[in-house]
Amino acid sequence: MALPKNIEKIKNLPTVFIIFGATGDLSRKKLFPSLFELFTTNLLPEKIKILASSRSQYSNEEFAQIVKETVNPKDVTAWEKFISNLEFISSDVSENKNLDLISNRLLQIEKEAKTCVQRIIYLAISPSIYQKAFENIGKNKLNLGCRTHNNKARIVIEKPFGHNFASAQELNSVLIKYFEKEQIFRIDHFLGKETVQNILAFRFGNEIFEPIWNNQYIDNIQITFTENIGVEKRGSFYDETGGLRDVVQNHLFQLLALVAMEAPKSLTHEHFRDKRLEIIKSIKTMNPKEVAKCTLRGQYEGYQSEENVNPNSNTETFALVKLFIENKRWHGVPFYIRTGKKIMGNVTSIIISFKEKGHEIYENFWAKPLPNHITIQIKPTEGIGLRLVAKKPGFETVLEPVDMEFCYRTSFENHQPDAYERLLMDVIFGDQTLFIGEVGESWKIIDPIVKTWQSGNPPLFTYKTGSWGPKEADKFIEQDGRKWLAPYLTICNI
Ligand code: BG6
Repeated sequence: MALPKNIEKIKNLPTVFIIFGATGDLSRKKLFPSLFELFTTNLLPEKIKILASSRSQYSNEEFAQIVKETVNPKDVTAWEKFISNLEFISSDVSENKNLDLISNRLLQIEKEAKTCVQRIIYLAISPSIYQKAFENIGKNKLNLGCRTHNNKARIVIEKPFGHNFASAQELNSVLIKYFEKEQIFRIDHFLGKETVQNILAFRFGNEIFEPIWNNQYIDNIQITFTENIGVEKRGSFYDETGGLRDVVQNHLFQLLALVAMEAPKSLTHEHFRDKRLEIIKSIKTMNPKEVAKCTLRGQYEGYQSEENVNPNSNTETFALVKLFIENKRWHGVPFYIRTGKKIMGNVTSIIISFKEKGHEIYENFWAKPLPNHITIQIKPTEGIGLRLVAKKPGFETVLEPVDMEFCYRTSFENHQPDAYERLLMDVIFGDQTLFIGEVGESWKIIDPIVKTWQSGNPPLFTYKTGSWGPKEADKFIEQDGRKWLAPYLTICNI
């Protein structure tokens, strides 16, 4: 893997991660595996401590065993070294219990290190207790960092930030009482994915695309994020949240922003964030009539019997929205965004579908022009494809679609850091470029949709697990004279 340029800068910077919610799904699936990978690839600071915390009681050994089961380490020596830096402290950040133990341990670590230590607080807890967590972190002065060097603690917060515009604002007002801008890292892990970052390089590093990246050439954009899995152990979180707020408001809006934004002046945090924000602000909000016409929601069969899900739940596990951006470049181009759980395809992709303008000399050789499209695939493998039209070999003139693809796997040998690995490193460096600066703008688009959905409009459709979602989703796009394009690359996935 290409190392960060200034890695030496942080190597000698003693650092402590304080992870609240250390036994939760996110910590087990993403945080500990990523921290261990960074540790084994020698990227973490030499003096690193991880203070893991949750309400349960565990000894350090018991907790290390829990982590071991999910990390599944192959290198035993590295694992032993890793866990010698891992400690467990039981606390309740929402009830202000035992946070003093964490403060005291931090002071002790600093004493032992004989220097200031960079403190990074990671909130891998339920978003419903964020506000109390901010207050209690503040009360215990965990936000202050190491005072001797005027070093400030950093805080990493997972999405969703709030559950609507008003609550996001309110939450933010509490957060900023205790933390300054440079201390806050609102994470959206999609921004840490390699292909997602590559969208900008693709658009602005290859000048051939810019002249056609607009409504004159592009007919529609399809953003798909579907998963085979259901809600698994996250029934209670998911049932409160639903697909629209779980992934559309954040991950998928960020994808839309990268595909649609204007070029930033530079890749600095401010310029990059401003351009993303500018495009999200220009998404047209919908009135109830438009919501009924331009959105669709579904629930997979059997969802209501999932663990910790309300048996009468109306929560959507499938969401589809058609959005328009109100600016010159995108006027009239629909952005179809769909997401679903327990769907046949386990795929994340963006398709830029060009207008169907076959040249007249070929008029008689195809029933219908075959539109070109670009597929940016993020999952299951990463790559970019271009659908072209080619003449089929032979005496007759017959045109057929063919694919040209760039696959990360075959083009680069480097290990691709997982999104969390990348973003955890950025937090250590204090680089906010790939973090969310804005609070609430995307809620302004989502809130009217949620409100109309709550009034029963459009109805909640059910769908079979392992399908592509409600069949009404096909009709939805067909009414516009379009169809869902296969969201996969062909060559990269073989
Ligand atoms: C999370 C959502 O943010 O992203 C989950 O809460 C979803 O519902 C997950 O499964 C998907 O992330 P990835 O990186 O595995 O595609």
